[in-house]
Amino acid sequence: MSELTMEKLVALCKARGFIYPGSEIYGGLANTWDYGNLGVELKNNVKNAWWKKFIRENPYNVGIDCAILMNPQTWVASGHLGGFSDPLMDCRECHERFRADQLIEQYIKEHESDASGENEKKQTESPVDSWSKEEMKQYIDEKGIVCPSCGKKNFTDIREFNLMFKTFQGVTEDAKNTVYLRPETAQGIFVNFKNVQRTSRKKIPFGIGQIGKSFRNEITPGNFIFRIREFEQMELEFFCEPDTDLKWFAYWKQFCIDWLQNLGIKEDEMRVRDHSAEELSFYSKATTDIEFMFPFGWGELWGIADRTDYDLTQHQETANEDLSYFDDQTREKYIPYVIEPSLGADRVTLAFLCNAYDEEQLPDGETRTVLHFHPEIAPVKIGVLPLSKKLTEEAEKVYAELSRFYNCEYDDRGNIGKRYRRQDEIGTPYCVTYDFESQEDGMVTVRERDSMEQERIKITDLQGYFQQKFSY
Ligand code: GAP
Repeated sequence: MSELTMEKLVALCKARGFIYPGSEIYGGLANTWDYGNLGVELKNNVKNAWWKKFIRENPYNVGIDCAILMNPQTWVASGHLGGFSDPLMDCRECHERFRADQLIEQYIKEHESDASGENEKKQTESPVDSWSKEEMKQYIDEKGIVCPSCGKKNFTDIREFNLMFKTFQGVTEDAKNTVYLRPETAQGIFVNFKNVQRTSRKKIPFGIGQIGKSFRNEITPGNFIFRIREFEQMELEFFCEPDTDLKWFAYWKQFCIDWLQNLGIKEDEMRVRDHSAEELSFYSKATTDIEFMFPFGWGELWGIADRTDYDLTQHQETANEDLSYFDDQTREKYIPYVIEPSLGADRVTLAFLCNAYDEEQLPDGETRTVLHFHPEIAPVKIGVLPLSKKLTEEAEKVYAELSRFYNCEYDDRGNIGKRYRRQDEIGTPYCVTYDFESQEDGMVTVRERDSMEQERIKITDLQGYFQQKFSY
């Protein structure tokens, strides 16, 4: 099996209709991507799998869908207007712009095994995220870190660059009409905490989940859909009693791990990284990142944080609205604590693509490219393939019946072997072949993608057969 590279994956995604470069006919727009005919099915399936397990089947949680544009006071309360920024520095020689924290992280990675172990120790004890601008600049100067572009050592001081996209509501482009594209979906949940609690009649503990677009003017987007400026998040804010937060933190952490593994992510492709005390945000009691081994290295997939009562308290103070919860059993009033598992839909879709990709050497010496998607997220569930165009009428009937329940693809072009390969390459778990015998015995051949095993199934039994195969 040959190694998966990002180049291979990007090429397959473009060729097969998963993901195309954005605005391509105009020469593109850097780091924007459009989901194609298969990509939209794949990402919708991923989002549906999240919604099914986190919202619909979960007894504690309900969903919401909030506006992207929110009252700007939201971003004052959340801290995004004041503090949602990246530390930037320019090279005075070649005028390239860099994130200081990333320059340092790269330097530490490359010098991890220095004799003293000092670098490695420094990173573990105090991650760069928690350093001040001055500490970062001092480190860069002390270590003589050079510009990755021109190799010189002539950087400007570090400036903070706010990541929120700004726009104007209404016709006047002034400060009074400035609004922001939300940088996360979470705040829509916090500002609706009281509404949802009242209308759903939920008692604590309960959670509110949301899937939606978020926007960040990232300085260093890249690695395909790993870091983009317009992306979707799947976030849950789980509200609980103050002293029960660490128990619920452990519960949701395991829930997230199980969700990934049930959809096929292997244990050796992921790792769980608990934040050290220095790395924790000042309001967080515990934070864990679930990371995935992408072809370019380990990358954060899912952030799970115990955010204490920080967010609701901030909104309570800024909006001057009582956001406390009254427990009618204990007669106690308190601001709930929040556990937040936050996952990027695009990023986890990328992880599923990497996880599924395989190039297999077959016994006949041929190589097949196959995407081993879990059936729940496979964009096409069943390929319907008539052995001959003479069988179109009957095969189309099978297709029409199965299409009522599953996203199916009808393919009557090329020899049957090539058609199987094509379905393998887009990750279709099952193919149904209608042949001349089918006319006689009312049966079709069902071929399974991974084992390539085939079995004859009665057409009238197909629905029950697939119902069992696709149960999730
Ligand atoms: N409400 C918390 C929050 O937004 P975050 O760690 O900034 O936390 C959560 O983001 C998740 O959203 C990340 O773990 C990642 O999966 C996804 N994400 C964040 N920025 C992204 C970007 N620029 N492109 C794609 N996904 C992103």
